[in-house]
Amino acid sequence: MGMFATGRSPRNIVFGRGQRQSLPGYAGQLGQRALVVTDERMGAEADFVAMMDGLRTAGLSIEIFDATPPEVPLAAIEQCVAAGRAFGPDIVIGIGGGSCLDMAKATALLLAHDGSPRDYFGEFKVPGPVVPLIAVPTTAGTGSEATPVAVVADSDRVLKVGIASPFLIPHTAICDPELTLTCPAGLTAIAGADALTHAIEALTALARPIDGQTTHEHVFVGKNGLSDTYARQAISHLSDGLARAVASGEDMAARESVMLGALLAGMAFGVAGTAAAHAIQYPVGALTHTAHGSGVACLLPYVMHFNRSHATASMAQVAEAMGVVVARDDDDANAERAIVAVETLFGEIGIPRDLEALGLKHDQQEWCAEQSMGAARLVKNNPRPLDVAAMRTIIKAAHAGRRDLLDAEI
Ligand SMILES: NC(=O)c1ccc[n+]([C@@H]2O[C@H](COP(=O)([O-])OP(=O)(O)OC[C@H]3O[C@@H](n4cnc5c(N)ncnc54)[C@H](O)[C@@H]3O)[C@@H](O)[C@H]2O)c1
Ligand SMILES: [Fe+2]
Repeated sequence: MGMFATGRSPRNIVFGRGQRQSLPGYAGQLGQRALVVTDERMGAEADFVAMMDGLRTAGLSIEIFDATPPEVPLAAIEQCVAAGRAFGPDIVIGIGGGSCLDMAKATALLLAHDGSPRDYFGEFKVPGPVVPLIAVPTTAGTGSEATPVAVVADSDRVLKVGIASPFLIPHTAICDPELTLTCPAGLTAIAGADALTHAIEALTALARPIDGQTTHEHVFVGKNGLSDTYARQAISHLSDGLARAVASGEDMAARESVMLGALLAGMAFGVAGTAAAHAIQYPVGALTHTAHGSGVACLLPYVMHFNRSHATASMAQVAEAMGVVVARDDDDANAERAIVAVETLFGEIGIPRDLEALGLKHDQQEWCAEQSMGAARLVKNNPRPLDVAAMRTIIKAAHAGRRDLLDAEI
């Protein structure tokens, strides 16, 4: 297979301390009436009030929706859309963690195309451009400011569900690491671990056969030349800064590394896609009510071990990006070092070491194995083929906290 690369990203990306002040300039290029989507916490922050003042001073009319709950339930999206309809915005601005950004994406979609979020679950269901979006993240994790997906919770379904369409990629992403200074250590760890998992799953994803239809038929197309570049850079920034950002939240250089890493990871997985760790987290998260980032990170070393034989070279690149290479031409040894380095980093920042510690009960494993096969877009992206038996094996090893069980059973 020859070299293939493809990219999709926001039209504008701006990153750096104080860049929140660039918001009025970008917003003014897109319209005059902005619906601002945030949550109660951010809505009360001085930084937020100053950003709103900046928009007003630039002549924009604004309507603030500050009732975004975590995890984005459909009922809350309805409220936000109703507020938007009453106001008639020509821009939607999401300011907050991944939940606020995903809420802004779903709202921009429904303001343009009506219907219910349910009409758009899955890939390529969005029929055309949405109301132009500006995303201003306040966590360094999801990468949602650069991705084509919004993850929402439908009370009719046990598992969370995604709307994936290139039309959902924000027009402009404004990443100001100063906005992450208020993140407590636990949130910093969980969000950053989600980002590292995005980057590693994108870099080690399957490289699929590509033809002229691939980028039209799949939102997530597998690893490729551009996503690999972003993913390697993301891993390097995250492994450099994450433990420091968790240990000393005021370390601005560490905050910068983690936020840039999270953005790059979003640009990588937003095209390449993620894989087994994300597929298994959906049911595990639904049963344990634990944060997305905790679940994917807890699973990642076990998934890497399972995948090692089918993604040895890219796992050796993970070692290189983390600076833990042991021998220049021994991909096997370097791949193992990468897994150990991930385990060590995640241990240091307090990610649960196994699914039992995460709260999954022994008798819930079988249900998780069955349900994790439902995330078809993630399953087909895994470098090593997955079936229910494989899921069972990974979950059993991850529950027991024993990677060696994967060697015994495969
Ligand atoms: N769209 C995507 O590409 C994508 C990718 C991965 C995950 N997700 C989704 O994103 C959500 C998780 O997002 P998240 O990890 O950013 O957390 P979050 O947005 O759910 O926020 C969690 C909590 O942190 C608070 N918070 C946010 N920023 C803060 C700050 N600067 N200081 C203090 N507190 C702050 C929020 O108010 C909230 O209470 C999940 O729903 C997940 O499924 C989306
Ligand atoms: Fe994730």
